[in-house]
Amino acid sequence: MNQKVIDAIHSQIDKERDAAITYESIYLWCAAHDYSGFAEFFKKQVVEEREHTERLYEHLLDLGVKPMLGATKAPPSNFSNLLEVANAALAHEKSNTAGVLETYEVASAEKDYATKIMLDWFIKEQVEEEVWANKMVTLVSRATCAGAMFSLDRHIVKELMGE
Ligand SMILES: [Fe+2]
Ligand SMILES: [Fe+2]
Repeated sequence: MNQKVIDAIHSQIDKERDAAITYESIYLWCAAHDYSGFAEFFKKQVVEEREHTERLYEHLLDLGVKPMLGATKAPPSNFSNLLEVANAALAHEKSNTAGVLETYEVASAEKDYATKIMLDWFIKEQVEEEVWANKMVTLVSRATCAGAMFSLDRHIVKELMGE
């Protein structure tokens, strides 16, 4: 496998692991602040981000490369309010999309067709990820009183995941 592609996939693995630990920290913040619906939503996102990481591991392993794990930085642990949480999630998803596209560009330049096909799934997935993150920012911005926020918390998983 081409080293530039391997390096690009490793940096995407680091981004996915960073997303997982950031969402884990957000889930704990939400749980500690009695936003149990948001806590449940972000707990599900932790699982999803770990699945993304697994997909990248499997791709490297299938091609005979042992994945390497980089250092993880401590995630943000304090937020002023849910709007800050939603904006942090949106920024994270945008940065993950940029990472996927950068990896795709390297794979294209190096004519690594198998990696390009593997990344097609991620490109589609990032569209969905930005949809929920944008919607979360909109819904939280709209919930301007305590009652509206209470109701949003109860319904957020259904709103964003259709469950
Ligand atoms: Fe992801
Ligand atoms: Fe994500």
